Amino acid sequence: MTTSLIDYQPAADLLQDRVILVTGAGDGIGAALATSLAAHGATVILLGRTIKKLEKIYDAIVAAGYPQPAIVPLDLEGATADHYQELAATLQQEYGRLDGLVHNATYLGALMPVEHYDLQLWARVLQTNLTAPLLLTRALLPLLKQSTAASVIFTSASEIQGGRAYWGAYSVSKAGADNLMQILASELETNTSIRVNSLIPGPVQSQTRRTAFPGEDPNQHPEIETLLPAYLYLLGPDSENVNGQILHAQESHQVLAASI
Ligand SMILES: NC(=O)c1ccc[n+]([C@@H]2O[C@H](COP(=O)([O-])OP(=O)(O)OC[C@H]3O[C@@H](n4cnc5c(N)ncnc54)[C@H](OP(=O)(O)O)[C@@H]3O)[C@@H](O)[C@H]2O)c1
Repeated sequence: MTTSLIDYQPAADLLQDRVILVTGAGDGIGAALATSLAAHGATVILLGRTIKKLEKIYDAIVAAGYPQPAIVPLDLEGATADHYQELAATLQQEYGRLDGLVHNATYLGALMPVEHYDLQLWARVLQTNLTAPLLLTRALLPLLKQSTAASVIFTSASEIQGGRAYWGAYSVSKAGADNLMQILASELETNTSIRVNSLIPGPVQSQTRRTAFPGEDPNQHPEIETLLPAYLYLLGPDSENVNGQILHAQESHQVLAASI
């Protein structure tokens, strides 16, 4: 059976007792996702660079009576390998393991021809969208290995397909991250219980979206909430055999046959 990830219906306690880190958890998809993960029982580690935004999500989760989250203020553009090692040490001490990692934060950079792209800006986009997820994943691997069923999600984008003109560093960084995902999925397939996949959310309104498409009617896309079942599916046990895939949250996938 082929069906859409949007139709996935997660159990209320799908992520009970799971510890899951979300980057860019203060806004857009990351904020809605963090709240939804907590609503399904997860202890969520909210990583982002704007503390006020993270505090707002933290307060909403606590007020709803969900498991107490944690805030990790970190600018992915400036963070070094040492910052990630410090984070790993703190999480090891607090939780002893990590069951999920969602690479969601992104920097759009600019939409312009490669010929004119500012090279410093190009490097900043690559650092935020590709190198930071690499460093974060590497640092957290020992914690992910201590989970009985860990899931890592890279966030991809349909705009990167086919080498579309003007998407420059954003497109290259996302394509690189998809490739990194597949390498990690292959390397971790044997001898670990870590699965690694990419998810294309599809268009929803957000700050990044408004910057990329300033002329768009904000009401033409689905609400962010419609994408969340796809993330829950990939983070929970119903996708235990899914590894190394690039899935689209708003399209049909064979992989869900037994799960919906
Ligand atoms: N919305 C769409 O239509 C769409 C389509 C395809 C793919 N995506 C992907 O979905 C993911 C979420 O995007 P979104 O649309 O929800 O965008 P968004 O609302 O603009 O959120 C982006 C998040 O990334 C954080 N961030 C940016 N640079 C950072 C840095 N250096 N360090 C730490 N955090 C940083 C932002 O933090 P601040 O708020 O502090 O700036 C924000 O929380 C991205 O990976 C994006 O590529 C979105």
